[in-house]
Amino acid sequence: MFKRFRRLRLNPGIRRLVQETRLSVEDFIYPLFVRSGEGIRREIPSMPGVYQMSIDEVVREAQELKELGIGAVILFGIPDVKDSVGSDALCDHGIIGRAVRALKEAHPDMVVITDLCFCEYTDHGHCGLLDPRLQTVDNDSTLELLGKQAVVHARAGSDMIAPSGMMDGMVEAIRSALDGAGFSHIPIMSYSTKFASGYYGPFRDVAESAPSFGDRKSYQMDPANRREAILESLEDEREGADILMVKPGLAYLDIIRDIREATLLPLAVYNVSGEYSMMKMAGRAGVIDYERVMMETLLAFKRAGADLIISYHAKEAARLLV
Ligand code: PBG
Ligand code: ZN
Repeated sequence: MFKRFRRLRLNPGIRRLVQETRLSVEDFIYPLFVRSGEGIRREIPSMPGVYQMSIDEVVREAQELKELGIGAVILFGIPDVKDSVGSDALCDHGIIGRAVRALKEAHPDMVVITDLCFCEYTDHGHCGLLDPRLQTVDNDSTLELLGKQAVVHARAGSDMIAPSGMMDGMVEAIRSALDGAGFSHIPIMSYSTKFASGYYGPFRDVAESAPSFGDRKSYQMDPANRREAILESLEDEREGADILMVKPGLAYLDIIRDIREATLLPLAVYNVSGEYSMMKMAGRAGVIDYERVMMETLLAFKRAGADLIISYHAKEAARLLV
């Protein structure tokens, strides 16, 4: 005889009725990497299926995303010229400013979120201005520039600012810069709990943002620290963040659950480049059933407590969800 648990697993119809967590296309935010030029769609070997695109291609891509039901993107810019202070990021005609304007003009209904950091724009590849004495990023002078960069994004028409640099006080500084420039209606999605992770490797190939010396351990979090992870996100909430984030996802499901239980704000997870590439490569090698493992993983983020999922898998998952 069937015992208690197997009765409700007997057929797909019953299983569907008692399914506790569901993925939907509304959960997804798709990352896009934009550079100057025309007709450029350059695949990066370490991230099959992910491209650096020129602005016209990004506009075309957004159309495809809308047709799949994906309504939000997060934009990363790759500038033509890098320098010690990341000047391209502070200029209205820099790569992000131009891309956001074109994207919002062609697709006013697409939610365009802009990643806000300096590592793609500086010649040293760190996430802010260097303190020559400490040989790492100086916190407070970087805050001032982050505020300026946020206003550049908002003026271009960004719908949401997503600071990823893990500077102390970044949310407060950006909030006050936006408010002061007449953008108090623009929300901030903070990369509030971001670990110093080996999983970002392929992203740094795509975004051309690897640090030229050292690492990011003096600003990103130690993967060993659970209590600090919660404190980091709660501090960003106190500073005025509208949406919090945990990054990476797979190795940090416990942290997603911890933060979900510590706040009432919406919570995003960033399913990062290394997680995507590992799965792609394993699928290509015939080691796993790629689509099945992908959907299981994305579902796990929701089960852990994430509301929003930033993922390179979003298009593939959307096709399976219809
Ligand atoms: C920039 C930034 C990084 C990612 C998102 N924003 C890289 C880093 O911190 O070096 C990683 C995303 C990914 O791996 O997919 N600060
Ligand atoms: Zn950065």
